[in-house]
Amino acid sequence: MSLHILCYVARFDASAMASIDQDIERTLARSRRLNRMNGVTGAMILTDTAVVQWLEGDEASVVDTFACASADPRLAQLRQVLRGPAAERLFAPSWMYFVDARSDSRAGLAPEIAALAADAEGATPAMVRAAMQAAAKRLHACAATRAAMLV
Ligand SMILES: Cc1cc2nc3c(=O)[nH]c(=O)nc-3n(C[C@H](O)[C@H](O)[C@H](O)COP(=O)(O)O)c2cc1C
Repeated sequence: MSLHILCYVARFDASAMASIDQDIERTLARSRRLNRMNGVTGAMILTDTAVVQWLEGDEASVVDTFACASADPRLAQLRQVLRGPAAERLFAPSWMYFVDARSDSRAGLAPEIAALAADAEGATPAMVRAAMQAAAKRLHACAATRAAMLV
């Protein structure tokens, strides 16, 4: 089974949400359950207006997960930034690692993630790769709390 990566950026419409934090928590919990079944790992970076999601797994599962996210009414203008085979998973320890890069949570973010958050809609393959590598570095450093991210 060969490994495939798909990374997309989308506008995230929070207007219909009573509580964006609750909504994100619920979506993450559900996504992690589904991803565990599908063998999909990855990460999601949330900005004030956009989501950048990195998915890794076998090609069919990754494409299926992207289709599932595409059908979600909270996401609009989905654009694939990067897609193709890869040698190894960046986020092997997490069914969906979450990075809050909204403007009031940006302190302490890696510069690569802050740069992506400042212009998510204009993200290039190099920008998402650098940001995701920085996120993965943080995840791998957090061995003690990793169990919590596996839910
Ligand atoms: C920002 C975002 C990220 C998502 N990520 C995933 C994912 O990683 N895996 C997945 O299977 N579905 C993902 N989805 C889709 C949701 O799992 C699904 O559409 C949502 O929970 C609605 O579920 P429901 O049909 O039970 O209401 C995502 C949706 C959004 C909005």
